[in-house]
Amino acid sequence: MIYTKILGTGKYVPKKTLTNNDLKEFVDTNDDWIYSRTGIKERHIVTNEGTLDLAYQTALKAINSANINKNEIDLIIVATVTSDFAFPGVANLLQAKLEIEGIMAFDINAACSGFIYAMQIADKMIKSGSFNNALIIGAETLSRLTDWRDRNTCVLFGDGAGAMIIGKSETNQIIDIITGSKGDEDMLLYYKNADIKDPKINATSKQDHIHMKGNDVFKFATRIMPKTVKSLLQRNKLNVDDINFFVAHQANSRIITKSARDLGIKMDKMFMNIDKYGNTSAASVPIAIDEAIEKGLINRGDLFITVAFGGGLTWAGALIKY
Ligand code: UT7
Repeated sequence: MIYTKILGTGKYVPKKTLTNNDLKEFVDTNDDWIYSRTGIKERHIVTNEGTLDLAYQTALKAINSANINKNEIDLIIVATVTSDFAFPGVANLLQAKLEIEGIMAFDINAACSGFIYAMQIADKMIKSGSFNNALIIGAETLSRLTDWRDRNTCVLFGDGAGAMIIGKSETNQIIDIITGSKGDEDMLLYYKNADIKDPKINATSKQDHIHMKGNDVFKFATRIMPKTVKSLLQRNKLNVDDINFFVAHQANSRIITKSARDLGIKMDKMFMNIDKYGNTSAASVPIAIDEAIEKGLINRGDLFITVAFGGGLTWAGALIKY
């Protein structure tokens, strides 16, 4: 039986920050509203970097933290909705930048749940015996899809990247992963690509921006995250108290506190860094896991659960022994 574990993690965010007060330049908003409704104080955004650059920087950190030779990596998966190109993928360009060409590399899109989806794919591919060490990344530049005139959405998002290296283990450490999805028929959260079917439309089309029905997404999030955590606990015959720490997708501090309340989790066991980064989509979970480890909130031997929801609509959760 092949088992898996986390070998190392990393994170990277662009240097430029936009505070809530900076946003007043573009939209009718204020720090009080943003902080009290979302928990966000500031977010990092790219200036001249792309998603590949963020992915590359975080990959270097994860490789260093895993203490492996980059040539031992035989699989790269990048979760992103903001690939710099429709093709080639971020993973393929990253492979060249890391000078580890010749191995399998691809991108996936499951919006904010994407990193845990990537984790499940990599975990199963290693457990199949066909792969040894996977570099998985969540990297996003959502600032490029944002309508900076729309105060309902522009205050929420930020750019960044997080990475993890998963490898073989003698003990069962990546214990269980749940992923799920349902079509977003009500169009709660979307960004539409230019219509390429009709040349007349294509010739005049403009880039779309993020559309969101915030209240409905909020309800979905506060229902699906506790449900996913409960399923992980039940499937593995564990109670909330058996888990040392929880890392939820950082979309809104109120979504996290409500989910914690419903599950009976004390807030000191629930990670929160949304104040510094905003919602970084697929990068949110790996940035949060890396920071929780760095701060000593997750230590070797601890059991932790990470959980996310996102566009799609998608959801995902993982039970891990670090
Ligand atoms: O990764 C997945 C992504 N998305 C999410 O997780 C989003 C989930 N939803 C949310 O986080 C919340 O629904 C929001 C933060 C987006 C909105 O918070 P809310 O408490 O649901 O506010 P609301 O949309 O009900 O708006 C309340 C009021 C409105 O004014 P009126 O109509 O009551 O006069 C808005 O126009 O707040 C107003 N408002 C703002 N005011 C100042 C909305 N955005 C802003 C703003 N600054 N940025």
